[in-house]
Amino acid sequence: MSAELVKAAIVAAANAYAPYSNFHVGAALLLDDGSIVTGANFENASYGMTLCAETVAIAKANSDGQLKQIVAIAVAGGPEGQVAKASDSITPCGRCRQIIKEVADLTETDIPVHCAHANGFETYTLSQLLPHGFGPASLK
Ligand code: THU
Repeated sequence: MSAELVKAAIVAAANAYAPYSNFHVGAALLLDDGSIVTGANFENASYGMTLCAETVAIAKANSDGQLKQIVAIAVAGGPEGQVAKASDSITPCGRCRQIIKEVADLTETDIPVHCAHANGFETYTLSQLLPHGFGPASLK
């Protein structure tokens, strides 16, 4: 299933809109019913407005009432036509780690994040990527 999710992230990167960085990123979310929600990065002429693939996918799931169903995430990125061809995997940016933190706290799951590279993928849990993170519980 993890390999399938990684494949979905690589496929999703084909829909990236990344004319400024030419760095195409795809994300895939596995839901608890086995279905997959994908996202791709969406850049903007005002560079800082860019939406990352992981954030797009999570916002899609939220819009469809599926936020609490997310059990795993995969991410793949690279220059157009070379996604996941690098020997090193890409990991979610800091902002995306914070977005994933919200889901992890909501679902009370240390969500695994599969990070694609040319020879497969590395898996990190959210708490490995964002130790001591700020989340909903911090507000109590
Ligand atoms: N990007 C993502 O989509 N996800 C990440 O976790 C890292 C960065 C995108 C943002 C921008 O469009 C491009 O990659 C280069 O930074």
